[in-house]
Amino acid sequence: MTASDQATAAGPADTADDAFRSVHDRAPAGVWSAPGRVNLIGEHTDYNDGFVLPFALPHRLAAAAAPREDGKLTFATVGSDGRVHTEAPVAVSDLRPGTPDGWSGYPAGVAWVLREAGIGGGAETDGWTVDRGADLVIAGDVPTGAGLSSSAAIECATAMALLGLAGEHDQQAARRAEIARWAQRAENEFVGVPTGSLDQTASMCCVDGHVLFLDCRSGDTEQVPFNATGAGLSVLVIDTQVKHSLGGSEYGDRRAGTEKAARLLGLPALRDVTPDTLDDALDRLPADLVPLVRHIVTENARVLEASRYLRDGRIADIGPVLDASHVSMRDDYRISCPELDLAVDTARTAGALGSRMTGGGFGGSAIALVRENDRHAVEAAVTTAFDTAGYRRPRMFVAVPSAGAGRDR
Ligand code: GLA
Repeated sequence: MTASDQATAAGPADTADDAFRSVHDRAPAGVWSAPGRVNLIGEHTDYNDGFVLPFALPHRLAAAAAPREDGKLTFATVGSDGRVHTEAPVAVSDLRPGTPDGWSGYPAGVAWVLREAGIGGGAETDGWTVDRGADLVIAGDVPTGAGLSSSAAIECATAMALLGLAGEHDQQAARRAEIARWAQRAENEFVGVPTGSLDQTASMCCVDGHVLFLDCRSGDTEQVPFNATGAGLSVLVIDTQVKHSLGGSEYGDRRAGTEKAARLLGLPALRDVTPDTLDDALDRLPADLVPLVRHIVTENARVLEASRYLRDGRIADIGPVLDASHVSMRDDYRISCPELDLAVDTARTAGALGSRMTGGGFGGSAIALVRENDRHAVEAAVTTAFDTAGYRRPRMFVAVPSAGAGRDR
């Protein structure tokens, strides 16, 4: 079975298919979807050539698509209210980084990248290329602004759809990694957000029942079995509903700081500092860069440690590693916020084996590794703590490692 054969959730695909028929009065040529992700551990290490350990969520964004012949792209989306929102058509030849902006910049950016990559033109699809245009209708249930990679999901679903229209139906591992790089390029160069490769690679390359160990320097991946349920455990996602945005300056500032540190150390990336050489490296850096470097180096070591535990099936043992990761992000990298800290602290006090914020930070979600028997108590404690603090109630769900991007129909 290839990853693209894996079963994908029917809900978003049905919604996208129905909405396509109502907007365009014809059937789509197909429906493709891609998941959001949680990152179990390894935060802000991706753009430092380091290690990450994400898994795909069951939550997906689906793209129903059909080719056009007039050189235009149309985008529509189904809102959480069930209503279809349609954007004005845009000529493929008019696509420029930043135009269009807003949510349709993500799928438009992917079309821009695939056009440059020269996708399509084969006899099977009558020579269709992105230049001829397409209709896309997008629907799904990946929470937005929650640090769960809704942007990567929309990019990867769009890429799969456009490649499908061009006649590519079975994406093997190497092609999946390439699609992830295209999707990342759309986000970096078209949308203009300087993110790393974590989210798009997770959305494209994760498989059911596994976490993805990714070496962001080599691009090497390893599927590590992760059966928390079988061990009586759950990964509880706590979405604080504090909207995070990576378009602000904070994400770029952290990235610039770590790149500057690598330059000052004369190294290609902070990946090249190890726990053994850390003290020496810190001695050679200005004080403001010290905590940033300490986070990256210790976080890479924690990803390696957690991966070793998971390869041995010792899921519960990653708890303290998750805890240490959160402390490092809160105190050294300074990307947490009071709501995330409250979620993490409360989950731990209520019995979680480990807890940390996940994703870019500055809001978004935390995860807690909990014994299934303790889960309700942890959820209740977090809800009470948020009520008491006067914060908006968080949304919580259990995250089960799910399939990467694929064709639904
Ligand atoms: C966001 C970015 C990723 C990664 C994480 C932090 O999700 O898109 O590239 O940097 O933040 O680990």
